[in-house]
Amino acid sequence: MAGNSKGSFKGTLGFVLAAAGSAVGLGNIWRFPYLAARDGGGLFLVIYLILAVTFGFALLTTEISIGRKTKESPLTCYKNVKNGWGWMGILSCVIPFIILPYYCAIGGWVLKYFVAFATGHGEECVADGYFDTFISGQFEPVIYMVIFTILCAAVIFIGVNGGIEKMSTIIMPVLIIMVIVIAVFSLTITGEDDAGKAISGWDGLQVYIIPSFEGVDISRFCNIIMDALGQLFYSLSVAMGIMIAYGSYVPDKANLVKSINQIEFFDTLVAFLAGVMIIPAVYVFMGPEGMSSGPSLMFVTLPKVFMSMGWAGPVVGAVFFGMVLFAAITSGMSLLEAVVASFMDGFKITRRKSVAVETVIALLIGLLVCLGYNVFFFDVKLPNGSHGQILDVMDYVSNQILMPVITIATCILIGWVKKPDYVISELTRNGEKFGRAGLYRVMVKFVAPILVFILFMMSLGVDKWIAGLFA
Ligand code: PHE
Repeated sequence: MAGNSKGSFKGTLGFVLAAAGSAVGLGNIWRFPYLAARDGGGLFLVIYLILAVTFGFALLTTEISIGRKTKESPLTCYKNVKNGWGWMGILSCVIPFIILPYYCAIGGWVLKYFVAFATGHGEECVADGYFDTFISGQFEPVIYMVIFTILCAAVIFIGVNGGIEKMSTIIMPVLIIMVIVIAVFSLTITGEDDAGKAISGWDGLQVYIIPSFEGVDISRFCNIIMDALGQLFYSLSVAMGIMIAYGSYVPDKANLVKSINQIEFFDTLVAFLAGVMIIPAVYVFMGPEGMSSGPSLMFVTLPKVFMSMGWAGPVVGAVFFGMVLFAAITSGMSLLEAVVASFMDGFKITRRKSVAVETVIALLIGLLVCLGYNVFFFDVKLPNGSHGQILDVMDYVSNQILMPVITIATCILIGWVKKPDYVISELTRNGEKFGRAGLYRVMVKFVAPILVFILFMMSLGVDKWIAGLFA
């Protein structure tokens, strides 16, 4: 089949870095470390790793292969895979459409913290209530969201090779160096615990990597598996149309089996190293309690940790938020590309027009998201037990409802209707060796849909409902 009219990656490395750029995002740096700290350290790591090379690999492989085989956008590719399955395309395009605005709002928060640390105002970020005051403001969060969105739009506007590929090839190596530097620094930190005993980053590292079974019974163990599964799902950027779009730009001669392994390796490595950066530092400066800070880790706990580091703090803070910004931009770009490619194929419009239309829409919805913390404030309770504002509702609908639905449908389509050979033949089209073909079949037919179904039921709160029946 001919190349993709929307553009294509020049080299395999460019594709790997772009896909890894999408996968490595706030999930790796923000969410992975606090889940690991909460879920038994090394125990979580082992479970995550096993799921990554089985379940995660199957989902990533499926989407990238569908993309390359059809050479179409997320919106139009499913029709091509099988007549009558075009509705999945609409879902695949709606998901990044919903996520993009709120991802840009969070990207704006990261930009704000980067600017604060880089201009020597890190000290202010430590004040009590700083984060809440910032996000409930009516102007600043909007301005930062707009800048972040326009940065992503500029790259997508340029195109696949000149924009996405070039940007990822520059950003990703810098990002990995920054991660390694901060991780090494974090291990060298020393301090004292409450009892005056000397502690160091190494002690914190042990908390992170040694499996802890404290308080782990069967039900807790299942929860940890589900946490790892949900994290993996989000972290690999699957079920968002992104890997289909990026896959459609990969040249036919590229070795997909190797590339997919590299993308997974990159994503898992950065998630692991994010833990090495964050957990030892938080452990030394805040003690074990600091690590249970959950989602407030990045914007509330970490600035405090940086400012406790003395002279090095503002520098480490600026490098850290610069690195997070890089990670967020490459993910934001990929979300935008999934929608832009869909609009180009669906409405037969040019890249430029498509970028312009989607950017304006994303900015308008992003504005609503920002104003969800002040003008349009409400607090709703979600079926999974958590509660939140507009951003959380959008996050819930996309991540907990639509993404599981599309994944289960993809597994049925590829595992049972088209059969796994549809994907395997694409992976091996140049005679590549695909060692995990047997594993792939079992995963896509049975294990992945069942696991995602359980995850989906938990998102709907079914587990709590059942527990209530027996209480
Ligand atoms: N994979 C990203 C992460 O780990 C998540 C993401 C990517 C979200 C792209 C949206 C868009 O943070």
